[in-house]
Amino acid sequence: MIFTGTIKGLRTSQLEDIGCQIILGNTYHLALRPTSELIDELGGLHKFMNWPRWLLTDSGGFQMVSLLHLADITEQGVTFQSPVDGKPMLLTPEESIQIQPHGFPLLLQNRIGADIIMALDDVVKTTITGPRIEEAMYRTLRWIDRCIAAHERPHDQNLFGIVQGGLDPVLRDICVKGLVDRKLPGYAIGGLAGGEDKDSFWRVVAQCTAALPVDKLRYVMGVGYPLDIVVCSALGADMYDCVYPTRTARFGTALVPEVFILDFAWVLKLKHQAMADDTQPIDPTCECMVCKNYSRAYIHCLVTKDAMGSQLLSYHNLFYMLKLSRDLHSSIVNGQFPEYAFVHLRNFAFIFS
Ligand code: GUN
Ligand code: ZN
Repeated sequence: MIFTGTIKGLRTSQLEDIGCQIILGNTYHLALRPTSELIDELGGLHKFMNWPRWLLTDSGGFQMVSLLHLADITEQGVTFQSPVDGKPMLLTPEESIQIQPHGFPLLLQNRIGADIIMALDDVVKTTITGPRIEEAMYRTLRWIDRCIAAHERPHDQNLFGIVQGGLDPVLRDICVKGLVDRKLPGYAIGGLAGGEDKDSFWRVVAQCTAALPVDKLRYVMGVGYPLDIVVCSALGADMYDCVYPTRTARFGTALVPEVFILDFAWVLKLKHQAMADDTQPIDPTCECMVCKNYSRAYIHCLVTKDAMGSQLLSYHNLFYMLKLSRDLHSSIVNGQFPEYAFVHLRNFAFIFS
């Protein structure tokens, strides 16, 4: 769930109500506005946004590369044009973590104050081939040392390293080993979900999770769809982030359990004319506040006309994802994950066949 100052349309108390334990913020967005200095002065991000639970910030490099076409990556860091005033700016590994005497007071995860902070990595799309993949992987390894050296709050902020290496198993292996040698509090698998086919994506996850320590969190970045979460968890991953539940809500789409598939596939499009006079809740089996109180017809009426439509859908979709995660987790704890995964994957396979 991407956070740029808020989970779009929802209050933090609502996130607490549905059992959300951790949310992700983007250093890049926060550093541009309100700025990391101001967040620090105002007591850190938890206090600023009134969120007492866990926070994670991504380093900013990935956002700049994915959001800004003008970003240029060199050994020094990422150079980009400020979207605020158009001036060239430089983000180095040190600055992504903490200010340096010569540096721009820009993307300072130590000052934003999240519980988990991400190292600056050199991200390339998995659809690119050639020497750039290798260069980015080795640079990510060199940058992790600069991040570790700059990190001033290892006592209360967990710095995670990010495995890069594209779809190349040899490069991924070198990167995993390099990061594990640094004995970090947790590890992310990056550079995925960028247009590669699922088979290649899942292979990389399987390889990395198998080689990462089992007693540390293994986090697949930028994932996922419910199917990917079930599959990657089966492959040993523990943690994910994705805009999907709230972004798809803003397009008028609700996530629903696979039992709906015969009629609707695993999403329900509230904009569809068939919803206009449907008095059922989004999902009659869902226990969320939205499904207990509102009909599909009401939400259909709102989606195109009022922000409340996407707010209600975001609430339901996050409730859905949290329930999926909780059910998945309990099935592991109760020794029933194979059955859980089998049922879900069979249903998903049916949808995609
Ligand atoms: N978000 C999704 N993928 C990535 C990645 O590879 N690196 C970073 N830093 N953030 C991401
Ligand atoms: Zn619901």
